Amino acid sequence: MEQQIYKGKLTQFHWLKIAKKEELTKNTFSLEFEIPENLKENFKFEAGQFVSVKFQSNGQEVINDYSMTSAPYEKKITLGMKINSSSGTTSQLSRNYNVGDQLLVSEPSGRFTLISKPSEFRTIVGFAAGIGITPILSHFKDILHNEPRTRMFLFFGNKSSEDIAYRQDLENLAKKYSDRLQIFYFYSQEKTANNFFYGRLDEKKLSLIINQILHLDDTDEESTIWDAVDEVLICGKGEMIKNLANACYHHGIPKKNIHFELFEEFNDDIYPIEKEFPLIENVEVEFKMLGKEYQTELPTNKEKILQQLLVQKFPVPYSCKSGICGSCECILEEGEVELLENEYLTEKEEEKGHILACMSIAKSKKIKLNFDLS
Ligand code: FES
Repeated sequence: MEQQIYKGKLTQFHWLKIAKKEELTKNTFSLEFEIPENLKENFKFEAGQFVSVKFQSNGQEVINDYSMTSAPYEKKITLGMKINSSSGTTSQLSRNYNVGDQLLVSEPSGRFTLISKPSEFRTIVGFAAGIGITPILSHFKDILHNEPRTRMFLFFGNKSSEDIAYRQDLENLAKKYSDRLQIFYFYSQEKTANNFFYGRLDEKKLSLIINQILHLDDTDEESTIWDAVDEVLICGKGEMIKNLANACYHHGIPKKNIHFELFEEFNDDIYPIEKEFPLIENVEVEFKMLGKEYQTELPTNKEKILQQLLVQKFPVPYSCKSGICGSCECILEEGEVELLENEYLTEKEEEKGHILACMSIAKSKKIKLNFDLS
């Protein structure tokens, strides 16, 4: 995950030394950090989480988020990173920081996590594209290690075979857990002997996967492997997530079992919004952020609140704009809103009045928000 995020929530950073740096492909690399004894508790994490790394790039301080590729039981923090362009911030991180250097690293966070069920027989399917493999790798290692009966299927899309990051780690896993893990590689820019593996992971490909790979189930003659799927994990770009999440949903997986992590800002809804609302004009909005009070008026309630505040150039916190990352979480202190989609907040948080501004439509003439959660 690489993106600079303005965070309304206070994030705790610590200096960590780079213990290992490794080139994975021509534009991906990994960093492993040394965790001093006194910080071990602070850096405990769950599979699927990320840390933010603060560093200097072209004389400016930047904060990028990167997902852990290590699994919690490995007791180390290893991150996977992609260099998108030679002038990008991750490229600077790769060029300017080496083993022995210190970086400011935040305590782990993120909710692309699953509840561990070591005594169950589960079927878990993962879809990853490019560097989207990072949190999926952490999940796969962790689940295979902790859940002796769970079987897993990974569908991993890349431009070509040369672009596959973590291939060796994946092959090692497939060997170690050959009875419970199957991995399939897809290439969008490299012809494959079998046409099945050529092209992007999308709705069409999912139908083929369901019919040709996840079909007959040896453990249950009455059903298919796809029918037995308990959880789906998806990580990659917004379009891919939207496409696959909707396709999985249309193929019968409940939304609560489809988990995704977005690696870029995405200005679209993951699931289509079908509801309509009575029009309200001149919506009064008051909000608090980093101790400062703001007041404004939204022309109508047709667009979501965060998107309208951004148009008015307020420095409100956001990242995905799709209800996934939680950066825009705030408390509704007055008024009424409709939270259209929520892939982040827990039921308890919703009960306490927490909302995601990027997925909320105003339903009252006046609303009051507080982005200062801590
Ligand atoms: S910006 Fe990511 S949940 Fe709102």
